[in-house]
Amino acid sequence: MKHFKPKLVCFSCRFSWGYLAEDAGLSWQTRNWVPVVCSGKIDTTHILSAFKHGADGVLILGCPEGDCHYQDGNYEARKRVYLMQRILESYGIEKERLEIRLSVDPEGKQITHYVKELSDRVAKLGPVKKMIERTESGSAV
Ligand code: FES
Repeated sequence: MKHFKPKLVCFSCRFSWGYLAEDAGLSWQTRNWVPVVCSGKIDTTHILSAFKHGADGVLILGCPEGDCHYQDGNYEARKRVYLMQRILESYGIEKERLEIRLSVDPEGKQITHYVKELSDRVAKLGPVKKMIERTESGSAV
């Protein structure tokens, strides 16, 4: 696993995070940046699809608790992440590859930290692709 550089997908709510997508300070690992109108719009198929298409980790950034512009989208997103972590584990994929942060970062100072944190964690776990292939050839799902 020498020089393994994880591929990450980051979904971010535009209200708290999204406009930072063009920030030049974001690393190459965040090229797969998907601004969304609300984290509640990210459903389980989006997350699973990211993993199936080669993501080694997925980060979701939503508005702070009690501050979703669509009432409870961030709470729904957090519930889905919890559910997806259980589903990923049933595929043999570590739940630590999927993370949600509910906060606000208008200046983008925390994003690179969160991305690096997830990237470092996923780098220790290794690539996810082989696990997906193994589960697809097995009896799971
Ligand atoms: Fe930001 Fe819902 S509007 S998480």
